[in-house]
Amino acid sequence: MTPLVVLDRVSKHFGGLKAVERISFTINQGLITGLIGPNGAGKTTLFNCITGMYQPTSGSITWCGAEKSCLLNRLKPHQVTRLGLARTFQNIRLFANMTALENVMVGRHIQSRAGILGAIFKPARVRSEEQEIISQARRILGLVGLADRAGGLAKNLAYGEQRRLEIARALATEPQLLLLDEPAAGLNPSETEDLDALIKKLQQELRLTILLIEHDMKLVMNISDEIVVLDHGELIAQGPPAVVARDRHVIAAYLGEEFC
Ligand SMILES: Nc1ncnc2c1ncn2[C@@H]1O[C@H](COP(=O)(O)OP(=O)(O)OP(=O)(O)O)[C@@H](O)[C@H]1O
Ligand SMILES: [Mg+2]
Repeated sequence: MTPLVVLDRVSKHFGGLKAVERISFTINQGLITGLIGPNGAGKTTLFNCITGMYQPTSGSITWCGAEKSCLLNRLKPHQVTRLGLARTFQNIRLFANMTALENVMVGRHIQSRAGILGAIFKPARVRSEEQEIISQARRILGLVGLADRAGGLAKNLAYGEQRRLEIARALATEPQLLLLDEPAAGLNPSETEDLDALIKKLQQELRLTILLIEHDMKLVMNISDEIVVLDHGELIAQGPPAVVARDRHVIAAYLGEEFC
């Protein structure tokens, strides 16, 4: 297995609160890693540390990309995005009054070469780049099953569609690593099954590496290759789903008996 991100004793404290405490694990290339644990375990905080939104209190997070290896914990969020990481948020953060297509284009513009002057004067090169961005955004909407919703305002999409649009916007930056924070939250069982299939498709067709926070145990156990379990900021178990599901610490802290 080839590591893509290596976390080494990562801690994040808020005053006296140890939200994340000396967490070490590896996100391997091409795999889906599930990150689970009870409410307040530190999952989102860890996402924020990996994506440059929080500076860890201590420890290191190393990006081992094919082109470049560097410390993520020294970078700002936009620099992390440029390296090839993209995320969705636990609470949907779309541009409500923009169309689905425009929401994806916003993500894509991060990769665009045209600067401010180019955007104002629109020379031929910029115009053709914009056409390319539009067709790329349409392709991505197709990939997540929203091809026919391109012109609809984000706020008018059904909740499940908004969740997919969030993923589409993240994909627009052409990431190698996609971090999904509770993508199934609020979805009904059939929407959750569709999401399950979508995440698998992203792994297989786009060869994405995925870090997935999820409380839906059926989903996470089904699609994860590896699982990391946090509790009170600490890592209490890691391994393949079948092994983690039988771990007595995990059962006591989170799963309960029905997953034995
Ligand atoms: N910016 C912050 N300032 C202070 N405390 C914070 C901050 N962000 C998170 N925390 C605290 O850190 C702990 C971990 O929170 P976090 O949001 O990472 O948990 P989580 O595992 O994502 O939980 P959930 O499953 O409910 O989303 C909680 O006690 C939370 O209140
Ligand atoms: Mg969270």
